[in-house]
Amino acid sequence: MQTRVLPFRDEAIADAARLIEAGQPVAIPTETVYGLAADATNAEAVARIYEAKGRPSFNPLIVHVPDLAAAERIAELGPALRGLAEDHWPGPLTIVVPLRSDSGIASLVTAGLSTIALRVPSHRAMRALLRVTGMPLAAPSANASGSISPTRAEHVLRSLGGRISLIIDDGPSPGGIESTIIAESDGKMRLLRRGPIEIPGVKLAAGSGIEAPGQLASHYAPSKPLRLDATVAAADEYLIGFGKIAGDANLSPSGDLVEAASRLFDLLYRADALAKARIAVAPVPTAGLGAAINDRLKRAAAPRQ
Ligand code: TXA
Ligand code: MG
Repeated sequence: MQTRVLPFRDEAIADAARLIEAGQPVAIPTETVYGLAADATNAEAVARIYEAKGRPSFNPLIVHVPDLAAAERIAELGPALRGLAEDHWPGPLTIVVPLRSDSGIASLVTAGLSTIALRVPSHRAMRALLRVTGMPLAAPSANASGSISPTRAEHVLRSLGGRISLIIDDGPSPGGIESTIIAESDGKMRLLRRGPIEIPGVKLAAGSGIEAPGQLASHYAPSKPLRLDATVAAADEYLIGFGKIAGDANLSPSGDLVEAASRLFDLLYRADALAKARIAVAPVPTAGLGAAINDRLKRAAAPRQ
């Protein structure tokens, strides 16, 4: 794949918007770092973010929206976090809030969680892309897994060149540090990731952020036992197939890993909600996106602590 780098202009944003609408990720600067953005309502587009980054696991992603009203169409904001958002948006503040059931956000974005991380960016390029697409945009930092967050188009090109088709260049990201992430539970605010915005009195939540950025302590997992590498279902099992192993539902009949990633959390939910007592999953190849899919399945199969 050829990677184009275009300076920020209306025509470049129009090109980027066309790619986003076609389900492709595009690298775009924000005021913190360059992000790799895709339509948050399109599960395959979100799967392509993971494919391009080569990330070996699915972590929930931050969704970018143009304003508070757009955030409230996606999630339920309590008074405390709404107040913070009013004070700091647009800007490098991300809030983690309960997802609305009619949000339309792909389950891969939140990795199946019932909460979502939202922010309203201030950078003109990301704002222009939000305006032209009219879509909520999921965007992690635009770097390959394991490398540092990019603050210039050249960094993105070095890290993801050949893996994405477009980078919008608007000079260095002014901030250079990823947004502050705040959650609220039981009426108390908790800091999940330190960042440019400091909120007095809000403490870092145990087991989050700092030591292992991006690693969440809690993850969605089905409530039922799950068996891996299954080729046939036992009587009490709901079989999630892949490729030629048809199953009761299939991650991707054609064996396409992007499609499989896009359906993973929806099928786990479905299996969990049905009457069968156990879940079985067909083998999924471990190359490329398969690594992240298998990581998620292994966690889902591990006994509860
Ligand atoms: O500055 C930024 O925030 C950049 C730019 C591109 O906007 N974006 C960014 O996105 O850093 P990302 O997707 O790499 O950050 C995701 C972080 C992870 O550490 C993840 O654990 C946390 O947000 N997160 C996302 N959804 C969450 C949720 N529902 N609950 C708890 N943490 C969540
Ligand atoms: Mg990152």
